[in-house]
Amino acid sequence: MPLLQTTQASYPPGPPPVGKNPLTQLRFGLYVTKNPLGVMMDWFQTYGDMVHLQFGDTNHVYLLSNPTHIHEVLVEKADQFHKAAKYKDEQRGLARLLGNGLITSDGDYWRQQRRLMQPAFHARRIEGYGVVMVNYTRQMLDSWRDGSSLDVADEMMHLTLAIVARTILDTELAGDAEQIAEAVSVFQNLAFGVDIFPLWLPTPAHIRQSRVEKTMSQIISRLIAERRASAGDRGDLLSMMLLTIDEEGNGMTDRQIRDEMVTLFLAGHETTANALNWAWYLLAQHPDIEAKLHSELDAVLQGNPPTFADLKRLPYTEMVMKEAMRLYPPVWSMSRQVIEAVEIGGYPIAKGSEVNIITYATHHDSRWWSEPECFLPERFSPQQEQQFPKLAYLPFSSGPRVCIGNSFAMVEAQLILATIAQRYRLALTDGYNTQPEALITLRPQHGLPMKVQRRELLLKP
Ligand code: HEM
Repeated sequence: MPLLQTTQASYPPGPPPVGKNPLTQLRFGLYVTKNPLGVMMDWFQTYGDMVHLQFGDTNHVYLLSNPTHIHEVLVEKADQFHKAAKYKDEQRGLARLLGNGLITSDGDYWRQQRRLMQPAFHARRIEGYGVVMVNYTRQMLDSWRDGSSLDVADEMMHLTLAIVARTILDTELAGDAEQIAEAVSVFQNLAFGVDIFPLWLPTPAHIRQSRVEKTMSQIISRLIAERRASAGDRGDLLSMMLLTIDEEGNGMTDRQIRDEMVTLFLAGHETTANALNWAWYLLAQHPDIEAKLHSELDAVLQGNPPTFADLKRLPYTEMVMKEAMRLYPPVWSMSRQVIEAVEIGGYPIAKGSEVNIITYATHHDSRWWSEPECFLPERFSPQQEQQFPKLAYLPFSSGPRVCIGNSFAMVEAQLILATIAQRYRLALTDGYNTQPEALITLRPQHGLPMKVQRRELLLKP
């Protein structure tokens, strides 16, 4: 694909316009989705930190990586943006799975739902969730055997799904975890892949989508019905959703509750699982950093399981997690639609245009990060953490649409990392090397086969 600069002065530089021809657009789409990170990093390298793409005469897309421009979109001028239209397509977009939940909704409805859900994420609640996080991790470890090989990506996915189900929605998913994990995979491909076939055509992908969608709806309907039958207020988010009444006296419908539950299952487990996957991958390649992590855990915990209260005495554990999310931000890009003409980076951007924030590029930019490809947890030490510009680091986004599960996720990731690393070393299977697969989240392309080795320690039972 030739990389030539556009000449229009009112647009930032970018590759030549793609034209109207659907076949040319498809070819371009395939070129990008085959290696989105590589292609976009090349563009930023060639054209600078704001890249303009044009499809046909009127369809404009802007890629951003400069923290100042990102701040304009997410914070200063947030009211002029909505979630991208491509996510809202109930046929092929993310909305097919998530409906109108917190990730995909906008405006007053989003504001009202966000206010409703906020209490489930208050600091006091998260402190209580810490016990569940550690207990579930210990249960998982009980099934691990010294020297055995397992897919750590699968283990992390099941663990974080069980934790979000138990803590936020007070439900047990035991038998359903496989199906939910499959649904998430299928829909990641649907939302990010290129699908040229009409939906009525029973291609293997469409059949799979319909099947997992049906299963997901059945699981959620069952969970809602069980809870309605048991009545009473359990004080959790699902109870809150079932008991909420608006000014007109209407409660949330099952469809609305379903959308929010699926959203929380999806947003609340795959992201944290991937943050942990990349931390394990990096630690296995950096024995010196791994050893430093182990010595912090051994010295502070003295063989006891970690608790929420211990976290402030485990700064290196936090630094490792933050640096893993810099190198591999689980949410590597965020898309918005311009709802009112706006200026970003000095360029006028028309209503209807799409803006994509490429967090991955910001996190790998040598202007903000020295040796950006190196795994250096010390960047996040209290002394150094203030040295990079605001929004050069944004794994959880910023502004009004900042991740609602931000603190939950940090506590969860640190407690899981500490509980596992205290007892096990995770080593990469000989010669195994993975690439990030950039769908909605950044995941290890073919899972994470690792060998688990029990650490010799004086562990208290
Ligand atoms: C390491 C883990 C996580 C990362 C990196 C992460 C990242 C993000 C990011 C970047 C966004 C903004 C997306 C956008 O605006 O386009 C977001 C939104 C969201 N996240 Fe997270 N997240 C994580 C964990 C969680 C957890 C544990 C939960 C819930 C239990 C959660 C629930 C949500 C929800 C509901 C939204 C939509 C918020 C709104 O628009 O009001 N996330 N997350």
